[in-house]
Amino acid sequence: MNPSPLGGDISRVDGRAKTTGVARYSADYMEPGLVHAVLVSATIGLGRIIAMEVDAAQRAPGVLAVYTPFAPVRLQPVAAGALGENYRPLQDREVRFFGQAIGVVVADSFEHARDAAAMIAADYQSRTPRTSLADAGRGVSIATPDSGNKTVLEPGVASIDAALRDSEVTIETTVTQPAQHAAAMEPHASVAVWRDNGLVLYAGTQFPARAIAGITGALGLKPAQLRIISSYVGGGFGSRVLPWSDVVLGAAVARELNRPVKLILNRAQVFSVVGHRSAVRQRVRLGARADGTLTAVSHESDAEAPAVGGWPLRAAAETTAALYRTPNLHVDQRHVVLDTPPTWAMRAPNEAPGAFAIETAMDELAVATGVDPMELRLRNYATTLPGTNRRWTSKRLDECYRVGADRFGWEGRRPTPATNRDGRWLIGTGMATAIYPAAGRSGNAVSVRFRDDGTVLASTGVVDIGTGAATALAIVVADAAGLPMDRVVTEVGDTILPSGPGAVGSRATGSMAPTARAATRAAIDNLIRAASRNPGSPLTGSVAPISYAAGILRAGNERLGFADLLRTLRMSEINAVQTNEDTISPQFAAHGFGAHFCEVRVNSLTGETRVSRFTTVVDVGRVINAKAARSQVVGGVIFGIGHALLEADPIEPSGRLAAANLADYVVPVNADVPFVDAVCLDGDDPDFSDVGARGVGELGTVGSAAAIGNAVFNATGIRVRDLPIHPEMLLR
Ligand code: MOS
Repeated sequence: MNPSPLGGDISRVDGRAKTTGVARYSADYMEPGLVHAVLVSATIGLGRIIAMEVDAAQRAPGVLAVYTPFAPVRLQPVAAGALGENYRPLQDREVRFFGQAIGVVVADSFEHARDAAAMIAADYQSRTPRTSLADAGRGVSIATPDSGNKTVLEPGVASIDAALRDSEVTIETTVTQPAQHAAAMEPHASVAVWRDNGLVLYAGTQFPARAIAGITGALGLKPAQLRIISSYVGGGFGSRVLPWSDVVLGAAVARELNRPVKLILNRAQVFSVVGHRSAVRQRVRLGARADGTLTAVSHESDAEAPAVGGWPLRAAAETTAALYRTPNLHVDQRHVVLDTPPTWAMRAPNEAPGAFAIETAMDELAVATGVDPMELRLRNYATTLPGTNRRWTSKRLDECYRVGADRFGWEGRRPTPATNRDGRWLIGTGMATAIYPAAGRSGNAVSVRFRDDGTVLASTGVVDIGTGAATALAIVVADAAGLPMDRVVTEVGDTILPSGPGAVGSRATGSMAPTARAATRAAIDNLIRAASRNPGSPLTGSVAPISYAAGILRAGNERLGFADLLRTLRMSEINAVQTNEDTISPQFAAHGFGAHFCEVRVNSLTGETRVSRFTTVVDVGRVINAKAARSQVVGGVIFGIGHALLEADPIEPSGRLAAANLADYVVPVNADVPFVDAVCLDGDDPDFSDVGARGVGELGTVGSAAAIGNAVFNATGIRVRDLPIHPEMLLR
């Protein structure tokens, strides 16, 4: 038997291609006759274009075409109720946000297109955009049926306010965070090639099915007329779930000109054309008994919701509403309409902001009651989804707390703030909970082929956005086939393949793994059938039953490798395709869980915060690839460092994003990141799926910012409620 790779420390199947530069990203694709398109961006925040000066651009060297609202390329209107942007660029003269595309220049080289685009000037009739969440005040409650807004009250309790008023201890905390960006390393880019009345698009996407719907809708195509190839993607983080207007414009221009078109956004355009995470203000109120037992929990949020559409941020739906046992619960998630660039899902879009709010409030409650923060969470541990009797498929959050506390050395922590000093450095520790929904599995299909060269080819259209999806696929198939990893080959990232799950919501691996296992088993059944029934098979007519293990078919004392069988039968392959639309039984809830423990050092002279130690323990059911899973958790903690200490894009009154570049939009670099002790509990979750893997993904970034903020409070005695925590806030 070959040792199974399932749960092992497995290096990426595409690691060599990436590190040697063989891997091709969207902008790396070349085509004969390819031309280059560059977008022209609006320089006001709201208003109407009166005129555009394009003559110089049109006469500039190498320019083939200039499109503007006055000479547009035609696009279909947005379907009613579509998620994402609700307008099409260039179809009218309105400017809806600063940086909106108002023109496309096409030229024979990128440099010619860029230079000509810079010659275009627009005259505007400007209006004052609404850009400030703070000025806008209270938003409008989300009214969709799946909003998660709810009030659950104990019998006899009149309102959440009454429940809070009658509590022995109450905490009220309001936290804010600014607009934040996915800031994926690969800028958004596409190459559009029209051929045979159809479109081949090289573009990074996370969710092929949604991308096909979005692009065919904009271009008036049937789904079968579009193929999207996303072989390698330099980071998604939500920003590539939907195609943005650059992709649609590039493809439309390519059709008009009948030439392949490459369109790469410059870095500033990535910040405005691609949706950002909403700025959000959240108020959490907790009521508790003197021993910290929760009696009432209220979480309200007001999130930036641009007039152009975007992600409907719901901060509490999968955090506060799912986390702690409480008899009284109130969730009101509201939206504030602003004239800002589109918002979108980004790195645990709802849960990272939501967890910062509830986990900061829980720390404040720990301080107010004198209960240790971890003990407080254990005291309020939920064994059913709050307000329901639904149990989890599996929940080992209590073990995450205990294992994490032990590894970190939580015991013996000094609860009194600002009492632990090492020279100029104030040292503090904090902790927080991680939670991320796992309930929704994404429908998908996987094909598995046993081939006459002795390899197995596993194919699905999932896009590997850097998380290791292709490697996870290979691991599950190698495990089910009893073969070593080097005999499994994967094909992903192409809509021509069996339809893959969305690489969104931390669910690609969890959705795909049971399908891949079932497809492998079905292909093995087909091998056995061919071996027993096909007249050319050496095993046909064997009285002993035929079995398969580790690539070998056996009947009594006879053994035959599957490649030998295929060659004898003159078949190149035997395959099976499985489709899986399963969801878990509605009696269950399913989440990933985790516990973060953090130590910070705050410089008492400069206010600088350094994260010095971090331990995160997660419970995700079955771990498919221990190495990649730890990597995901470490990445999530790094996101948390950005969220807590660095990442902000202030929106100026004009609507301009003040930090639309990677110098001013500060993300953590190696020097900001300590060793992160990331641990995945080894487990299974048979009520979740046959493989029992719930997925890892975004879990690590949920709560990590709160653990840092709580540690900063413990170090300094200063509670910073407005992110990011800047040095000047700690110099009071
Ligand atoms: Mo993610 S923000 O669900 O791509």
